[in-house]
Amino acid sequence: MRIAILGTGVVGQELGRKLAQSGHQVMIGSRTADNPKAADFVARAGSNASQGTFADATAFGEVVFNCTSGAVSLDALRLAGAENFADKILIDVSNPLDFSKGMPPTLTICNTNSLGEQIQKELPRAKVVKTLNTLNTNLMTNPAALPGDHVIFVSGNDQDAKAQVTKWLGDWFGWQPRNIIDLGDITTARGTEMALALWIRLMVALGTPIFNYNIVTATDSTEKNREHTDT
Ligand SMILES: NC(=O)c1ccc[n+]([C@@H]2O[C@H](COP(=O)([O-])OP(=O)(O)OC[C@H]3O[C@@H](n4cnc5c(N)ncnc54)[C@H](OP(=O)(O)O)[C@@H]3O)[C@@H](O)[C@H]2O)c1
Repeated sequence: MRIAILGTGVVGQELGRKLAQSGHQVMIGSRTADNPKAADFVARAGSNASQGTFADATAFGEVVFNCTSGAVSLDALRLAGAENFADKILIDVSNPLDFSKGMPPTLTICNTNSLGEQIQKELPRAKVVKTLNTLNTNLMTNPAALPGDHVIFVSGNDQDAKAQVTKWLGDWFGWQPRNIIDLGDITTARGTEMALALWIRLMVALGTPIFNYNIVTATDSTEKNREHTDT
C-alpha cells in the first residue's frame, strides 16, 4: 500500500520505519523536499521509503498520517493541499501542545473544540480518524512492549473509515480490536487531546513515557446501574 507520513519527527519516523519494513511504500513529507531528517529516514528505512514535500507525500499516499507538530498542523496540512486528501483516510496522531512557555505544555485548543475537529473542518473531503495520540511513539508500533491489555481510542465521523483504521492498527502494529475503543464522532477527540494534560503528569510521576491506560468496567454494569436507579 502507498502510505504518506506527514512529519519528520520521532513519530513520523517510527510509523514510517515500521510500515516500510512491513513492505509498504512510504513517502515521508516535510516543508522542503530535501529535508535532512527525511533523507536520514530514507537511508535507514530502505528501498520502500522515499521523501518529498507535504504535498508530494499526500498526493502519493492512499492513506495519510498526520504526524506534524500539533500547534502548526493546520499550516502543514494547508501546504499538503486540500485536493490531495479527497476521499482519503487521514489518520491524525497529532496533539495541540504548546511548549513555548516550557514544561508542562498547555493545549492550544481544548474544551469546546479540538485539533481533530479543526482538521476535519479544514479538509471536509478527508475522512479524519484520530488515534494513537494518547501513548508514546514506541508503543504505537509495538503494543506488546507492555504486558496485558491496554487501550487506544478512535474518533471520527465516518464509521467505515474507523473500522478500516481499526483493522490496519491490528494488521500493521498488532493492536487487538478489543483494545481499540471507538469513542464516537470527531468531537470526541476533545477527550483524547485533553488527556495529554494527565499523560504528561503521569510521565513525570512514573519517571517513564512507556506506560498506557487500561479501562476497567463491571461486566454487569448495566444491571448494577438499573438497581441503583430503582432504589
Ligand atoms: N512523541 C510522542 O511520543 C508522541 C505521541 C503521541 C502523539 N504525538 C504527536 O505527534 C506529532 C508529531 O510529534 P513529533 O515529536 O514526531 O514531531 P514534531 O517535532 O512535533 O513535528 C515535526 C513536524 O512538524 C513540522 N512543522 C514544524 N513547524 C512547522 C510549521 N511552522 N509549519 C508546518 N510544519 C511544521 C515539521 O516540518 P519539517 O519536516 O519541515 O521540519 C515536522 O515535519 C505531534 O503533534 C505530537 O504531539 C507525539
